[in-house]
Amino acid sequence: MSIQWFPGHMNAARKKAAESMEKVDLVIEVLDARVPQASSNPMIESLRRARQRPCLKILNKSDLADPDATRDWLAHYGAQPQVHAVALSCRKPADVAKVPTLCLKLAPHRGTVLKPLRVMIMGIPNVGKSTLMNALLKKRVAKVGDEPAVTKTQQRLFLGNNIVLIDTPGMMWPKIEHPTDGLMLAASHAIGVNAIIEEEVAVFLAETLLQRYPQLLAARYGLRPEGTDGVGVVEAIAARRGFRLRGGDPDLEKAAHTLLQDYRSGALGRISLETPASRVELLATYVPPPSLAEPQEVGEDDEST
Ligand code: G4P
Repeated sequence: MSIQWFPGHMNAARKKAAESMEKVDLVIEVLDARVPQASSNPMIESLRRARQRPCLKILNKSDLADPDATRDWLAHYGAQPQVHAVALSCRKPADVAKVPTLCLKLAPHRGTVLKPLRVMIMGIPNVGKSTLMNALLKKRVAKVGDEPAVTKTQQRLFLGNNIVLIDTPGMMWPKIEHPTDGLMLAASHAIGVNAIIEEEVAVFLAETLLQRYPQLLAARYGLRPEGTDGVGVVEAIAARRGFRLRGGDPDLEKAAHTLLQDYRSGALGRISLETPASRVELLATYVPPPSLAEPQEVGEDDEST
């Protein structure tokens, strides 16, 4: 499955983010702790690096992620220059209360009444940016829009008298290079998918779970993970739960939806779909599609440009 789009409002959001990057001291990048690298927008990272802004990477929803994988991700990001990584749950006020101090440490030259620390909160849709913002400010603030219909593109709000928060809309990037990243994001609900693709996403999720967490599948659905594959897991869920269509065939769509919901809500257990090691493996075995791998033909007239 190739997931590719670039709606106009995201283009506008990217331009605005590039302009704002100049005027901020620190970026908070909110990631989904279950899929940290797949949920990291390479455009955000390149904008930030070009302006050399320090970054607090928040591995959010860590209450749903595998603690061992999260520990490895924290070490991975923590080793990067100008980066501090923290795992938390933005639904827990005590976790969020740590954030201002971490921000001030990363940009010690700012953070006074006269020179407030300007922090831009970025991340792809549904990683928890609004939840973080609300928890920091201890009130509900209107969500900046991921939806085309929502016109507000950024908002600035004071946190105490020494930090200014700039909230940006969820920003995707034009093309997700690795198909498995698209599937991980769809499984984790960062991107919406229709019912047909939902089955494909569920089969991918089932295959990942068979490899990494077979015991959780067995515990939740009473199925035998040995010798089965992703399709077999979805079929087994339909059979075990009695999901049938009118004619008696298994309702695989319902089974796929159930598996995805159980993963997203944490009912299956604490799961991470990728680790730094699996990422290295992915990059080592990745063969770019021909359009990306083959050098573009350059006409004689184009060579000087
Ligand atoms: P966004 O602004 O980045 O788009 O994300 P938002 O804050 O709206 O959060 C998206 C969903 O993720 C919300 O659930 C929110 O409650 C949930 N969420 C945010 N932080 C955490 C966390 O630390 N742990 C858990 N478990 N959930 C978190 P929702 O409105 O019910 O949406 P959905 O889950 O049905 O997609």
